[in-house]
Amino acid sequence: NIGPAKTKGHRFKSQPSPNHIQMSSHAEPEVLLEKVGRAGVITMNRPKVLNALNLTMIRQIYPQLKKWESDNETDIVIIKGAGDKAFCAGGDIRAVTEAGKVGDSLAQDFFREEYILNNAIGSYRKPYIALIDGITMGGGVGLSVHGRFRVATEKTLFAMPETAIGLFPDVGGGYFLPRLQGKLGLFLALTGFRLKGRDVQRAGVATHFVESKKIPDLQKELVDLKSPSAEDVSRVLDSYQSQSSLDAEKPFILKKHLSDIDRLFSASSVEGIVKNLKTDGSEFAKKQTETLSKMSPTSLKITLKQLQAGASLSLQDVLVMEYRLSQACMRGYDFYEGVRAVLVDKDQNPKWNPSTLEEVSDQMVEQCFSSLGEKDLTL
Ligand SMILES: *[C@@H]1O[C@H](CO)[C@@H](O)[C@H](O)[C@H]1NC(C)=O
Ligand SMILES: *[C@@H]1O[C@H](CO)[C@@H](O)[C@H](O)[C@H]1NC(C)=O
Repeated sequence: NIGPAKTKGHRFKSQPSPNHIQMSSHAEPEVLLEKVGRAGVITMNRPKVLNALNLTMIRQIYPQLKKWESDNETDIVIIKGAGDKAFCAGGDIRAVTEAGKVGDSLAQDFFREEYILNNAIGSYRKPYIALIDGITMGGGVGLSVHGRFRVATEKTLFAMPETAIGLFPDVGGGYFLPRLQGKLGLFLALTGFRLKGRDVQRAGVATHFVESKKIPDLQKELVDLKSPSAEDVSRVLDSYQSQSSLDAEKPFILKKHLSDIDRLFSASSVEGIVKNLKTDGSEFAKKQTETLSKMSPTSLKITLKQLQAGASLSLQDVLVMEYRLSQACMRGYDFYEGVRAVLVDKDQNPKWNPSTLEEVSDQMVEQCFSSLGEKDLTL
């Protein structure tokens, strides 16, 4: 859920279009919701901030998505990002921490409504196709990974980098990450490791790989399908994938480390994982030790427990758990400090509290998972 700082959007005159079902009153809508033929098309439209997701956008996307789900003139939904850099670089979490500091309800509403949207995508009854043709992190992953189809390109840059800002890989990270091969998901969750291009598909985050330049044609073909089933959509995506040979020969960047990852990250505690890495002593292990030493110790411990629990929970139950965790982070210290160090002051030097793994007791971690009573998320 990491995203760039909220900045003043650059304004331009948008072309009035009869296709825009819903438009904000100002010149630059932050999200476009259009009907193109029988397809509902969602475009996150804040390219200056890498299409960072904020509550206003969530409140526009969710009701339209539900409408399209039961609308007999809509067959499929396509979601994409405006501009040539990002699908969505994450949630607008700087605004969330600012709200948290002054007790504003945005600190609850943002997570609650975002997870409700993630769940709507995960249980969507029509083909949902995310064109993740650019940076896709945190909140952007939540808008894509739970959908039936995720199309990566050579421009896709995937990461769940939340442990670096005192948060945890939310938006259903507790569901999809433990379902990746071996301990790969836990590795990605703890280290925030970035996957690029074809590797996003090889890891299982994307379902397809299509060259970026072919995306406009792909979209047109999808929109032109007549009452398509999921299989029809799948066939079109498969065909575009088979015409995309870029980087096909390049091996998966983690291929030679997968067995090490499975072995080293199989310890039942974060201390155990760090011990394994130090004992191993390889270049790869040293690098991961260094990375983990920079992350919030509290976040690392929450994340391990989140993925351990999430491995056997439904997406709904994971999101209920993650909502509790999000509110624990709002009550705590590290999330504010992480956002300050990475997104506000940009000194990249967070002072975590507690500052070591040993100081984060099981009881402290346990408390983050406890029920919020009537404030719990209900799906
Ligand atoms: C979301 O972003 C848009 C465009 O920058 C802005 O107008 C709106 O106020 C933001 N909403 C929230 C809740 O921050
Ligand atoms: C589609 O829905 C409308 C009203 O919701 C209904 O009048 C129409 O008959 C439906 N069309 C089909 C093909 O089911």
